[in-house]
Amino acid sequence: MTSDHAGQAAVLCGLGAALPPRAESNVELCRALDTSDEWIRTRTGITHRRIADAGVSTADLATSAAIQALASFGPHPVQALVLATTTPDHQMPATAPAVAARLGLEGIAAFDVAAVCTGFLYALATAAGLIASHTANAVLVVGVDRMSLLPAPDDRTTRPLFADGAGAVVLRRGPATEPGALGPLVLGSDGTHGDLLVAPHGGHMRMQGPDLFRHAVDRMCSASTHAVQKAGWRIEDVDRLVPHQANARITSAVGRRLGIGPDRQVQNIEHIGNTSAASIPLALAQASTQEALQPGHRTVLTAFGAGLTWGATTLIWPDLKPADHNPFYDTPRERT
Ligand code: UT7
Repeated sequence: MTSDHAGQAAVLCGLGAALPPRAESNVELCRALDTSDEWIRTRTGITHRRIADAGVSTADLATSAAIQALASFGPHPVQALVLATTTPDHQMPATAPAVAARLGLEGIAAFDVAAVCTGFLYALATAAGLIASHTANAVLVVGVDRMSLLPAPDDRTTRPLFADGAGAVVLRRGPATEPGALGPLVLGSDGTHGDLLVAPHGGHMRMQGPDLFRHAVDRMCSASTHAVQKAGWRIEDVDRLVPHQANARITSAVGRRLGIGPDRQVQNIEHIGNTSAASIPLALAQASTQEALQPGHRTVLTAFGAGLTWGATTLIWPDLKPADHNPFYDTPRERT
């Protein structure tokens, strides 16, 4: 466990999600791109992606998810907000203070973390550090991205993959033996491969898909194995693997190589797409809502993203679902 001398840890105790209502189908995308529904489905596992309307900001999505996470945490104070994003609303200031202000939390520590698709795990580690150092007793963590803003309109490599959304959790100080206590966090980076996925200032995203695919599988497998060992578990003990939803073929390959079968993997890219920093908390929110993730499940979270960056951690899933309005009960809006 990530615990201090008194056996205390950062414990997951609030969960929320926000998805734009508009679901863009592959068929709709084919009208704009030289591609096919079959190619996208078989190469990525995606049939629809959630796309925010123009005028919806990163702060809007983050605030919706955060409201739910705070509601499921109950009437307790948080002393910090850590927000992971690649698509902040401004180059400066960071998005977190604006979200804190909208939540009526002005005065708390609030800042952004940039680690692209691994951002949520880096933000969890940062929040756990704030708790361990007694800077905060409870921290709101948001993973949010409007990734649909980054691809060039005619780029058939990136546009089918990326989507918009937000997920949020609350971590608070608690016993390391409690369900929800975060295990050891494994984090890494390798900037020598930074050119594999880049969005230059003012320009569109460029991706070298096949190379990135191989790194994603390697890094998520090694980080997961390492986190499981550090937690004192064995891979056979893992009930649920919740990987960053980069591509269904990537997450399946990670599960296969680790020996974690499809019934023990959480996959939700099909109707959502790759939402970068939001993808793990969105997968947690959906899986707990639909009871694919149940209290007591030994759970591994793992992510990989541009940078390169990667990470993994473990936890026993607590008795936790998103409170209030849950977007996974909504019918998405499709254009015909
Ligand atoms: O979130 C973390 C970071 N992201 C990732 O880790 C994503 C990693 N990469 C991937 O998910 C996959 O590499 C892609 C989905 C991007 C591409 O799939 P792939 O199986 O690696 O395809 P490919 O790039 O090797 O392309 C195969 C063929 C090429 O044609 P030729 O050269 O064989 O004639 C491409 O030009 O498919 C072509 N192609 C397409 N065809 C139809 C590429 N994109 C498309 C498209 N529709 N959208």
